[in-house]
Amino acid sequence: MKGEVFLEMRGVEKSFGSNKVLNGVDLDVYRGETLVLLGGSGGGKTVLMKHMTGLLQPDQGTVTLEGKVISGLPERDLAWARRKVSMMFQSGALFDSMTVAGNIAFPLHEAGIKDREEIERRVREALEIVKLPGEEEKMPSDLSGGMRKRVALARAVVEKPCCVLFDEPHAGLDPVTANSIDHLIKDLAEDLGITNVVITHEIRSVFRIADRIAFMKGGLVYWEGTPDELKASKDPFLVNFIEGRAEDSDL
Ligand SMILES: Nc1ncnc2c1ncn2[C@@H]1O[C@H](COP(=O)(O)OP(=O)(O)O)[C@@H](O)[C@H]1O
Ligand SMILES: [Mg+2]
Repeated sequence: MKGEVFLEMRGVEKSFGSNKVLNGVDLDVYRGETLVLLGGSGGGKTVLMKHMTGLLQPDQGTVTLEGKVISGLPERDLAWARRKVSMMFQSGALFDSMTVAGNIAFPLHEAGIKDREEIERRVREALEIVKLPGEEEKMPSDLSGGMRKRVALARAVVEKPCCVLFDEPHAGLDPVTANSIDHLIKDLAEDLGITNVVITHEIRSVFRIADRIAFMKGGLVYWEGTPDELKASKDPFLVNFIEGRAEDSDL
C-alpha cells in the first residue's frame, strides 16, 4: 500500500498551557490509504488530527501536505488545505434548523459557490456517496443517529477532498450501523481514491478498515504497523489495549 506520501508530520509538538499534548510526532500518511489512529482517551488523537488540516498549528515541527508546508501558515492561506483535507468531527453536529441539503451545501456556500444547479448537483452526488439518495428535504430531527453521521459525512465530501479525517465516526452507533460506516469509509478509498485517517475505539472496525495503524502514547506515535502486525505484536501495552477494547466491544 505504501506509495507516495500525502501528508507528512515531523517533530510536531503542541502544548495547551502547561499540558504538553504532542511531544514530537513523526507520522506519514500515504495517498489512498486508510490509516487508523489508536490510543488512550485524552492522548492527543484529536489534537493531532486537527494539525492535519491546519485547524491547529504546532508549537514546533512541520506539517507538509502534498509537498507544501502548511504549518505556520496564516488562516487566510489555509483554504487550499481545508479543501484537500476535510474533517468529520466527533460530534458530527448538524444544524438542526436546516434541511439535509442545507447542511450539506454549507461548505459550498462558505466557498462562495452561488450557482444553484451546481449546488443541487453536488449535494445530490454527496448523498449518493453516503447511500442516502433523495433525502435532501428531511430535517436532522427526522433522522436516526446513523443517518445523521452519513449526512455529516456527505458534508465532509461535498467539496471533493483528497482526504477525509474521521474523529470517532463509530461513537454511539450500534454494531450494524458502525459496520455500514465502515463500508462507506472503504468505498471512499476504493471508489474515489480518498485517503482516510480514522480515530476509533472500535477494534472490530480497525481490522475491517485499516491499511495501517498508528498507536499514540505519551504524545508520540508509539507504534506503527499493519493490522496483521498488530495482531502478532507481543508488546504488552498493545496487547492490553487490544484485549481491553475487544472485551468492550464483545469481539
Ligand atoms: N483547545 C484546547 N485547549 C486546551 N486543551 C486542549 C484543547 N484541545 C485538547 N486539549 C487537551 O489536549 C489533550 C488531548 O486531547 P484530545 O486530542 O482530545 O485527546 P483524544 O482525542 O486522544 O482523546 C487533553 O488533555 C485535552 O484536554
Ligand atoms: Mg478525541
